[in-house]
Amino acid sequence: MDPIAISELRFLAPARILVGTGCRHELPRLLAADGRSNPLVVVDPRIGEAPALRDLLARLGAAGKAPPVCNEVPGEPYVETAEAIAALLRAGQHDAVIAIGGGSVIDAAKGAALGATNPGRVVDYEGFDRFEIQPLPVYALPTTAGTGSEVTRVTVLGATHPIRKISIKGARLVPTAALVDPDFLRSVPPRVAAAAATDALTHALEAYLRPASSPVSRALGLRAAVQILRVMSYGPAFMDAAHLPDLATGSMLAGLAFGNSDVGPVHCLAESIGAVHKAPHGAANAVFLGPVLKYYGRGVDAALAEVARSAWPSRLGNVGDESAAQALVGSVAEFVAGANIGTMLELCGGVIDVELIANLAETNNSNASGPLPMSATDYARIIRLML
Ligand SMILES: [Fe+2]
Repeated sequence: MDPIAISELRFLAPARILVGTGCRHELPRLLAADGRSNPLVVVDPRIGEAPALRDLLARLGAAGKAPPVCNEVPGEPYVETAEAIAALLRAGQHDAVIAIGGGSVIDAAKGAALGATNPGRVVDYEGFDRFEIQPLPVYALPTTAGTGSEVTRVTVLGATHPIRKISIKGARLVPTAALVDPDFLRSVPPRVAAAAATDALTHALEAYLRPASSPVSRALGLRAAVQILRVMSYGPAFMDAAHLPDLATGSMLAGLAFGNSDVGPVHCLAESIGAVHKAPHGAANAVFLGPVLKYYGRGVDAALAEVARSAWPSRLGNVGDESAAQALVGSVAEFVAGANIGTMLELCGGVIDVELIANLAETNNSNASGPLPMSATDYARIIRLML
């Protein structure tokens, strides 16, 4: 008798994921239910006086003392950023972290929550499940539709000596609750929103294309990609209020997809120019997504065609794999070009060290998670084709 193929799945997600306009207002109830009375709020300084933030902070303060707010998070957080917030958490004897922002804020908050309860330096915990003590609970409220970090077990932080991005992964890094409220998206500048949306699409596609992904990650990746592509196809109007709930949900689903699988070569390149040139994560993924998909060539046509046909059944329902896949790649390129995100070279300050970036991409621990094997030579070819 043939052996039966068994796939064992351990699916990680926050115990509570709230989705919908206004769901941020449930945060005080969740904190009270969990017995958390002394949270620190970590906020993206760029969302400043956004009405959705102002009314949430007012409600958090209404029950008694207003929680302290930390807004010292740079666009690309470093290990030191997480450690500085961890010091605040310890000094204030805080019992929870509320992260309101894009991926930089949520990742910094997750790293800080770990650093507040575990000894030594945050960088010591690079890798998978290297820490033993439960981090402080994190309540994550994404303000961009891109990161997915509100539902994942990973935090990505910049590190020096050597310069790189480190990933800290562990089941205990999954936020306690995610509150995905499209109202936060209203105050995001269009260019930032477009870059974030392309990051989310990259999460969805990389999880979907990864051969080792579970059926659950592939299903979530497919659904997320379809939802995000449909919103993107509105072009510059993609941030109209009517589309924001779909975009916010698509980003969260993409987070669940890659959070239970991995990202792949697009992120390997994006994280490399992020580490070396401080290129913003969303924009870096946006510039590499199309060229990497093109470089894969015919090997991913069938998979991309399934996504494209699901997204636009009336237009592509009856076309062949190659044409459907090309339509998807063309749609991404058109969206990125129209969003004024910039070029790879612009994100790198005008000069790129091809060998350095290619080698960093090859040694990224997500390099093996692509649909096809990728070496430093492949990465260098992609970069040179973009010059
Ligand atoms: Fe990403």
